[in-house]
Amino acid sequence: MPETIWWKTGTVYQVYPRSFQDTNGDGVGDLPGITARLEHLAWLGVDAVWISPFYRSPMADFGYDVADYRAVDPLFGTLEDFDALIAEAHRRKLKVILDFVPNHSSIAHPWFVESRASRENPKRDWYLWRDPAPDGGPPNNWLSNFGGPAWTRDEASGQYYYHAFLAEQPDLNWRNPEVRAAMHDVLRFWLERGVDGFRVDVIWHLIKDEGFRDNPQNPDFAPHQPGINRFSQVYSCDRPEVIEVISGMRAVLREFGERVLIGEIYLPVERLVTYYGPDLEAADLPFNFQLLETPWQADAVAALVAEYEAALPEGGWPNWVLGNHDRPRIAARVGDAQARVAAMLLLTLRGTPTLYYGDEIGLGHVPIPPDRVQDPWERNEPGHGRDPVRTPMQWDDSRHAGFSAVEPWLPQTEDAERRNVDAMRDDSRSILTLYRRLLSLRRDHPALSVGGWRSVPLPPSLATEVFAYERFEGDETLRILLNFGSAERSIPLEDDAAKQETWSVLLSTRPGRAGEATGNVLHLSPDEGVVLRAHPSS
Ligand code: NOJ
Repeated sequence: MPETIWWKTGTVYQVYPRSFQDTNGDGVGDLPGITARLEHLAWLGVDAVWISPFYRSPMADFGYDVADYRAVDPLFGTLEDFDALIAEAHRRKLKVILDFVPNHSSIAHPWFVESRASRENPKRDWYLWRDPAPDGGPPNNWLSNFGGPAWTRDEASGQYYYHAFLAEQPDLNWRNPEVRAAMHDVLRFWLERGVDGFRVDVIWHLIKDEGFRDNPQNPDFAPHQPGINRFSQVYSCDRPEVIEVISGMRAVLREFGERVLIGEIYLPVERLVTYYGPDLEAADLPFNFQLLETPWQADAVAALVAEYEAALPEGGWPNWVLGNHDRPRIAARVGDAQARVAAMLLLTLRGTPTLYYGDEIGLGHVPIPPDRVQDPWERNEPGHGRDPVRTPMQWDDSRHAGFSAVEPWLPQTEDAERRNVDAMRDDSRSILTLYRRLLSLRRDHPALSVGGWRSVPLPPSLATEVFAYERFEGDETLRILLNFGSAERSIPLEDDAAKQETWSVLLSTRPGRAGEATGNVLHLSPDEGVVLRAHPSS
């Protein structure tokens, strides 16, 4: 049997704490709410919960602007609430992964308050301060990911500080050993409380070019894209020295045994895989967001999976993501029928899957009226805001879908009365049931959790619509066929006469097919995905 470390065999479930469960009646989710809903995660069959930030914060970027890395924001509860959450999660055999935000703090963090106090302050070099350009403008052409320049001038000292995101989120200077040591202690603080790992925010941003050179123009920039894309981020992120910084963090995690370091990295495959580190000593799981960026077509996805598998370093463990709190929801992107195919893809590929809360009930985008916009990015660059993907979870058919006793901070879907956990739980046709069955299949079949992956070639006329691959371990072979199209397809199954296999349906996205024996041809319905099991025929 291959290795079975928990973060390799398990499935991660992301909770956006503002939107999971409100228990104190303020319309915003909280830590006791997550604890109260751990039952759902255990029932669903996931293995770990990653919780987006709940640290003390002025909430300029909803918690990704941290004012105290060791405190829980009162909006979400207390440290005691966190201790109760982790104890309850561990009792249910669920791992807990925190969101670590080391690239920038809040301007309200005491470190920044000191740093900005004067040029001579001992913490001045903890952040990135530079003199103005000769014309008095920003030191270079770097832009903020949320629109506008990435430099803000501090009137008192006349210098500019760098912020890759909002002006309220100044970037820390990770070249400074004191910053590293302070941040390592933050990791230890949470590891000592029992956390099982971290998802590290914008990890590829941590080190910037030492000379602060201008980024080059991006020849592919299109006006509908966010302004940051005007330039290729060659000097502002993805610098070679970052790998050593990540290794340093991982070494801290290893002081505590088998904990996981997941890195948030939006880079093309060939750059992404370098974040495992030359000897696999950097990120355990550099988040693979390629499914979020690839067109939803069988041949495009097949090419992507093959490319990623081939690019992985020896021993590097793969991972897949279908959605998160920053990107369009899968059901909104591909529609309800294909969302089921997507669920099967995510949970049958090789590597650790991460599931975004609400995707298990097929949550789509909720249109946000202008007077309810929350995301600062939407205010800076209309159309790019992330509110529609962060709406509150829907648990039952009560007034606010069981999320809160009062009007939630963001609206819920119009079909919340039907689209909720309660309504879908016992419905054998629901997407929730499908997710649960897929997760249970993954647990029961080592071929899916730890086995190998290989693509199954199909005739060209089929390959544009259907993605076929196998997972295998020991004497078990499973074949997955995913119909990305809306026409029925007949798939030949005998590609290896010598093997003389016969097949049966283990699970289909179409209810009622499991157990069906197939002949030499499988009729795949429109938008259908199946997992087949091979039986040697004698
Ligand atoms: C990535 C996070 O996922 C996103 O939500 C946040 O706004 C930025 N990093 C800045 O921390």
